[in-house]
Amino acid sequence: MTDDLKIKLLVVDDEQSIRRLCMTIGTSLGFVCDEAESAESAVTRIETAPPDVVLTDFKLPNQSGVELLKAIKGALPRTEVAIMTGHGSIESAVDAMKLGAYDYIEKPFRVEKMRLLLQRMAEKVKLVNENAFLRDKVNTDENLDGIIGSSAGMQDVLRMISRLKDTRTPVLISGESGTGKELVARAIHFRGALAKSNFVAVDCGALVPTLMESEMFGYEKGAFTGATKTKAGLFQAANGGTIFLDEIGELPLEMQAKLLRVLQEKEVRPVGSNEKIDVDVRVVAATNRDLEAAYRAGTFRKDLYFRLNVVTVHLPPLRERRSDIPMLVHHLLNRYTPGMHLQVTAAAMKSLLQYDWPGNVRELENCIARAVTLGDHKTIDVHDLPPSIRTEQPVTQEMNSQDATSLSTTALAEMERMTILRVFEQAHGDKALAGKMLGISRATLYRKLKRYNITPRGGAAEKTEAEEAEAHAAGH
Ligand SMILES: Nc1ncnc2c1ncn2[C@@H]1O[C@H](COP(=O)(O)OP(=O)(O)OP(=O)(O)O)[C@@H](O)[C@H]1O
Ligand SMILES: [Mg+2]
Repeated sequence: MTDDLKIKLLVVDDEQSIRRLCMTIGTSLGFVCDEAESAESAVTRIETAPPDVVLTDFKLPNQSGVELLKAIKGALPRTEVAIMTGHGSIESAVDAMKLGAYDYIEKPFRVEKMRLLLQRMAEKVKLVNENAFLRDKVNTDENLDGIIGSSAGMQDVLRMISRLKDTRTPVLISGESGTGKELVARAIHFRGALAKSNFVAVDCGALVPTLMESEMFGYEKGAFTGATKTKAGLFQAANGGTIFLDEIGELPLEMQAKLLRVLQEKEVRPVGSNEKIDVDVRVVAATNRDLEAAYRAGTFRKDLYFRLNVVTVHLPPLRERRSDIPMLVHHLLNRYTPGMHLQVTAAAMKSLLQYDWPGNVRELENCIARAVTLGDHKTIDVHDLPPSIRTEQPVTQEMNSQDATSLSTTALAEMERMTILRVFEQAHGDKALAGKMLGISRATLYRKLKRYNITPRGGAAEKTEAEEAEAHAAGH
């Protein structure tokens, strides 16, 4: 592991023997250690080599450890600080915790106790950093599409959306319930050339056939009891834009025939009218049923099926793209508690990653909404999840958290590695472009490439600036 990936510990104490001891313990845990004998020199260190973890004496020559704590938290909010107290200053140490100290430890301390404290602080820093990484990624990905998904399956979907958004080709979106069909339909409309015109959603399973006809195609005054004035239908409302026919598989056969005619002739005849009205709409339909099986069984018209299904976008179930779960969790957390930056414990994330999600993203969304309501508004832990989602946890508390941490950390690292690899593929090995797509700086990208042992393929990776300019000029 390179040094910049290790936890950085700063020990602040005027006594050299204490600094040495703490640094020896830190080094044995694999940390990179640094020392300062006063608050002033600690402040300089914080600027030049920002630590992840700080151990500071409560009483320092010119400034108290508490003042130093405030300065550190102000400059580096994610850095964890523990206070070493002498005999009799425990009350003040407790006050320090209210100001954001992670914990305090009484001097003289046992080596083992200090080890455990440092270990716990490092875990916390890792957890917060992982959560922050995912949150940042959510933010950059959201700017791209509002649809979360770096799994191969979702990347295919995103590619399809960008290919289809400016066309008027009919699209059929298939996928289990809660996989994001409506979200994708909206993306196709709102990301594309028709964005300024109407997007009208029709739930084909919600209305009885007679009502549906008048809703879809409109009606003339007096066409039926209660039709006191002429009303335009949903197709007219969508004119020039997109009509989203949701749950198309639920459409009764009688309506299927009428819909087919409208799509073929590009005109509607309102109920009770003799006149036809021209409509020019793009049709996006969605179904969670197997429409092919339905037309084979005779419950769905084959001709309508082929007219709607010029292009299919299939949304994979969430259990087949588990690597999207961590980012979705943070996306949803941000939706329910904007700006609050709730942390998800490693054990909770492990449970979320292992569950099968029969209700897909919608079920995950409900689960997060529940956890936010039941939780302590800081952390989402296993006990905030519905019982069906919690995985069996090992018996002892200690094993429990360690076990889960290592597993989830691996899962997250793997996810990060896969994301970087995929982005590199899309960027054809161009580091500058990949960095931009990932929303991280060049330096961070280099660090991550090194960490995951990724050697980008393709000549573009090492292009000089002149070559790059030439390639751009040539339209590559
Ligand atoms: N990839 C995704 N990224 C972010 N949010 C998502 C994603 N997929 C689904 N969601 C969210 O999950 C919820 C369900 O999505 P949506 O309503 O589009 O699913 P659906 O397939 O139409 O479901 P149903 O079959 O139940 O109608 C919505 O709140 C949506 O915003
Ligand atoms: Mg839907």
